[in-house]
Amino acid sequence: MKRTHHCAQLTKSDLNATVSLAGWVDSVRDHGGIIFIDLRDREGVTQVKFDTNLRAEAAQLKSESVIGITGQVVLRPDAMMNKGLPSGEIEIDATGLEVFNISETPPFPLTDAGGDKVNEDLRLTYRYLDLRRPKMQKNLRVRHRAAKSVRDYFDAQGFIEVETPALFKSTPEGAREYLVPSRIHPGEFYALSQSPQQFKQILMVAGVEKYFQVARCFRDEDLRADRQMEFTQIDVEASFIDREGIYALFEGMLKKVWKDVLNHDLPTPFPRLPYDDAMNRYGVDKPDTRFALELVDLSDTFKASAFKVFASTVAAGGCVKAFNAKGLADITQGELGALEDIAKSLGAKGLAFIKVEGGEWRSPIVKFFSEAEKAALTARLDIAEGDIVFFAAATWDRACAILGRTRLEAAQLLVKRGKMTIRADQWNFLWVVDFPLMSYDEERKSYVATHHPFTAPVAEDAALLDSNPKAVRGQHYDAVLNGMELGGGSIRIHQPALQKKIFEEVLKIPADVVESRFGYMLKAFTFGAPPHGGMAFGLDRMVALLCGTTSIRDVIAFPKTQKAQDLMAQSPTPVTAKQLKELHIQTVIPPQ
Ligand code: AMO
Ligand code: AMP
Repeated sequence: MKRTHHCAQLTKSDLNATVSLAGWVDSVRDHGGIIFIDLRDREGVTQVKFDTNLRAEAAQLKSESVIGITGQVVLRPDAMMNKGLPSGEIEIDATGLEVFNISETPPFPLTDAGGDKVNEDLRLTYRYLDLRRPKMQKNLRVRHRAAKSVRDYFDAQGFIEVETPALFKSTPEGAREYLVPSRIHPGEFYALSQSPQQFKQILMVAGVEKYFQVARCFRDEDLRADRQMEFTQIDVEASFIDREGIYALFEGMLKKVWKDVLNHDLPTPFPRLPYDDAMNRYGVDKPDTRFALELVDLSDTFKASAFKVFASTVAAGGCVKAFNAKGLADITQGELGALEDIAKSLGAKGLAFIKVEGGEWRSPIVKFFSEAEKAALTARLDIAEGDIVFFAAATWDRACAILGRTRLEAAQLLVKRGKMTIRADQWNFLWVVDFPLMSYDEERKSYVATHHPFTAPVAEDAALLDSNPKAVRGQHYDAVLNGMELGGGSIRIHQPALQKKIFEEVLKIPADVVESRFGYMLKAFTFGAPPHGGMAFGLDRMVALLCGTTSIRDVIAFPKTQKAQDLMAQSPTPVTAKQLKELHIQTVIPPQ
């Protein structure tokens, strides 16, 4: 039996043709002795009718068994037509049946709705079944389409794809990494590449000028919906390019991807938002701008307040911030408690609020407020009946973090009540720019690179590197979409002396450590490094948003669980003593 067509390909125009189809049994129905099988392949479903001597065999077939059939395309009786589908007007009158494989009963229904209802661990254990669901098939195709579109785009722009090693060396200043023991060099380790950053910069020194790679990266991070230990970047680097050049290059890429995948015309250029504004208005550096609920700084209003919590925070150099969750005064005690718990987990002492109900301000703190303070609040926060205003008094970083998160939670509560809509197909792209080059790490008592140590300072700020590193802006940019950081990059330092200064004088990495970790790079830069810059986009995150899901596990064929396990193949696993010995490794397992 040789397949002639795909399911869903056959329509009324094929009437009377003799065809062969192959695929999976989607369902078996018995209509008064005539057996109907919905046969499914990757393109769709076609109804097959068995009313010859094949009936008995067909009736026995369990769902998900693999069969081939031969038969004639015929019109369905009027009552059985499904006019919604092109293939819904016809069926195949089977004259031949070949059973390729019988299936056990699947542990969950392989429909979109059926799979969505079950525990994700079950889906991941039987990933091959989960991937048969139409939604997952579509996600795999969107991913393919998006990656192809990206490759076509960079190819057309003159970029070449270069593969860089996955086995790199340990660079402990980034994310935690996966170490790989060397058999040949006892006691020495490779590290799996966290990103091709150093290699792509070296490729610029090598005169490649325009590099890209759809690159696998490895980071031993705590896993979340938008984070996997192994993920894919669209990694790009170019020589003789500035920030404007990068923005235009990636806007072009995204325009093409959105057109190719969704047939949607993205408007460009994207808005740009300085880091300080993003933090002040949304409390995060990756704001979801599909809704407002913007934060307001009230430090001035409350600096002399009778409410000591607020006044003393401002006096100590902190700030008072607030936002109006318009229309959420009907928040339940349980919901409010959950918001408080989240705020406290972010270091808040409390989450003060004012509710406006029945024309009155209800709040544990309003008794401390003067008339002038109340008037200022009403004006600055546009307070009206049915609103609830949340406050955070803390250091600037902490107040931003607390209210940034509360804002997102409040938005979800408003959506749940039907008081707000957040559309998955509204594409609020933006560039977040003007990040600080360095941030001060209180724990380590030293500066750390906000992005990575290769990012160039903004030229006019470079003079401040010695006197006030915190005030230096970096030539770093993030691409943000609907609250998700999709990509980040920077114009790099290409002068070896400046790079050495950043390592040794600003980041305070001892000279011998700089030499052993980055010596090869500094040396390469002494042989004519062109000015260069680039960016990396998270392919998984981009595809997730294109597919309308928030979990990148839905767009990775074989992802790990939140506990970093592959439930299907069952990994990680212990290895044999012989294997460990060969690698010169002894393990010490902590007591449970
Ligand atoms: P960065 O570390 O910001 O930059 O990573 C770039 C993008 O990669 C994606 N990403 C992830 N996706 C899934 N799971 C993860 N664990 C994960 N970590 C990062 C994000 C992120 O925006 N070399 C620099 C880029 C450069 O400067 O050119 C880099 O790796 O979408
Ligand atoms: P207290 O006077 O400590 O009982 O606090 C009064 C209210 O203010 C309570 O609802 C607390 O949750 C809240 N609160 C206390 N500290 C802060 C703070 N730093 N920021 C915001 N709200 C706070």
